[in-house]
Amino acid sequence: MPYKPPIPNPYPGLPILNSSISHPETLVALSLSTTNSPDLNNAARRPRWQGLIEAYRPYLPVTATTPVVTLLEGNTPLIPVPAIAKLIGKGVQVYVKYDGLNPTGSFKDRGMTMAISKAKEAGAKAVICASTGNTSAAAAAYARRGGMRAFVVIPEGYVALGKLAQALMYGAEVLSIKGNFDRALDIVREMAQTYPVTLVNSINPYRLEGQKTAAFEVVDDLGNAPDWLCIPVGNAGNITAYWMGFCQYHQENKCDRLPRMMGFQASGASPLITGQPVMHPETVATAIRIGNPANWERAIAVQQASQGKFRDVTDAEILEAYRLLASQEGVFCEPASAASVAGLLKVKDEVPAEATVVCVLTGNGLKDPDNAIEHSNNPLKPGIEPTIEAVAEVMGF
Ligand code: F0G
Repeated sequence: MPYKPPIPNPYPGLPILNSSISHPETLVALSLSTTNSPDLNNAARRPRWQGLIEAYRPYLPVTATTPVVTLLEGNTPLIPVPAIAKLIGKGVQVYVKYDGLNPTGSFKDRGMTMAISKAKEAGAKAVICASTGNTSAAAAAYARRGGMRAFVVIPEGYVALGKLAQALMYGAEVLSIKGNFDRALDIVREMAQTYPVTLVNSINPYRLEGQKTAAFEVVDDLGNAPDWLCIPVGNAGNITAYWMGFCQYHQENKCDRLPRMMGFQASGASPLITGQPVMHPETVATAIRIGNPANWERAIAVQQASQGKFRDVTDAEILEAYRLLASQEGVFCEPASAASVAGLLKVKDEVPAEATVVCVLTGNGLKDPDNAIEHSNNPLKPGIEPTIEAVAEVMGF
């Protein structure tokens, strides 16, 4: 009998797994890689992501002495969504920029790393913002990490549970007013002029500087700008920031075209479509329940310069896209984010054949468990006897 060396166990301490035995070549490869002496100065090591300020430093208003407050935000995935692309047809490619994977679960982290770093540089001891939830979570996390107080003013009863939990846990001082977001924003704007607190809403220019890096990432991933960018619009800071990013990269010859910027608002909160402020905005997508966007003029300028469009999407359309993304694509975003996909589907006949489209998913689905459970259309099967027969029966076997 020829000598057969024993297959070394690649996972010392664990029994050899059946899955490994059926692929002995994997075992040998694994054991070789574990027995070779590690090259600790390995030049091929993947560089560590150090957050968006480090990644895009030359494009951002920071200096060598700016104290960078970061949670290593950015570098979020651009995920193909073939089921949605199929609904559009015509060879159109659709991706989602899943910014819900940032450290506090929304795109706001991009702006907040900049705004808080600059506030710290200026010696601020406290920051303030009005918020429908996500800004408050990001402001709280970054301000506390930077050693500052965070005051957040929110509309009572209209902030998703996860966002409220975050603001409280991060240690913000949460002030819940009996008024809507627009009123909260008026209040904090004035407060910041009178009291020693730095405003970190998107009228703070550093917020948009940080947020524009999402456009850089899209171009870095695709190798060019997409034909269309679909994005939910509330205060219109993010659509402005994306446009800034695309334009800056275009000037640097990192892309040879600019996208059409397609902004989508909820029908009950669509001042950019109706052309006038909405006094009592209403939508299931509480993140964009905004009647008087702070960046109104900029949004119009972006729409015109990019030959884009603003459209509204109903709550029913938002919820349909919300379910579709989760149940067909495995991507769970919050309702406001799904407005970008709802909008794309609504105007699908206008999408040019073979176009590349990016939809921005601004926030994580886990932010809003109440809406998820209420609108999943997928009821829990409760009260089953704890036996195999009972479970199998409910499974339909
Ligand atoms: N999507 C989500 C999940 C948001 O939280 C927001 C805004 C938007 C889209 C709209 O972005 O305002 O730049 O047009 N949320 C703000 C907040 C208002 O307080 O968290 P925008």
